[in-house]
Amino acid sequence: MAQRSPTPRPLASLAAPAVDGAAPAAGPTNVSFDSVRENPRVRVYIRKADEALAEIGYTEHGERHVSLVAHIAFNTLKRLGYPEREAELAAIAGYLHDVGNVVNREQHAQTGAVIAMQMLSDMGMPDLEIVRIMGAIGNHHENDGDPVSPVAAAVILADKSDVHRTRVRNPDMIKFDIHDRVNYAVEKSFLNVEEDGKRITLELTVDTAISQVMEYFEIFMTRMVASRKAAKFLDVSFGLSVNGNRLT
Ligand SMILES: [Fe+2]
Ligand SMILES: [Fe+2]
Repeated sequence: MAQRSPTPRPLASLAAPAVDGAAPAAGPTNVSFDSVRENPRVRVYIRKADEALAEIGYTEHGERHVSLVAHIAFNTLKRLGYPEREAELAAIAGYLHDVGNVVNREQHAQTGAVIAMQMLSDMGMPDLEIVRIMGAIGNHHENDGDPVSPVAAAVILADKSDVHRTRVRNPDMIKFDIHDRVNYAVEKSFLNVEEDGKRITLELTVDTAISQVMEYFEIFMTRMVASRKAAKFLDVSFGLSVNGNRLT
């Protein structure tokens, strides 16, 4: 299952294992998720993108968010039977998907795709992989994005499912801001990817004393529509479950 946690463990190394003690083959196809995550430039951009959003009052979009999106995107494709490298590209796209916020929140998907192109190109990734990651990053936003590939669909599903209390920077504000209130009300969220049932369910535990379920729909309807579209691209159905009540 695509495990969700507010403080995700680092994705295990996805690099090809060494054979007979030899180092993995070097070359342009060997840009691993770990090497992207540990890249000093990537670290700066992710930190600064989150700081920019903090300045304008947005919920957390930093290391916690992008690690979780990477992890869920990877697990989603793995559980649906996609090749390891396809899932790893989804993890890399998930990790980089919000770097465009260093430029501006507006059009951050598109600017992020171009920033990622520069970074991954510098790391030696081949163009045929870079363009898949660019398409996924550039299409992750619910208002102007589409699942143009399995990698893109996985990133959309992972990104839209990150609703959680820990994203709220200042709990004092939940009285005033519906986004903070809804995020704060979600005590548990889990993207359940069923291998055999061909079904993906976003399972939420919501404290209705903090936020009514209707508020969730008020602000997250477009995200749910995007998730359903992404699931359809992957040939699976999408459903939402709130406090044990499944809505399909
Ligand atoms: Fe985003
Ligand atoms: Fe995001």
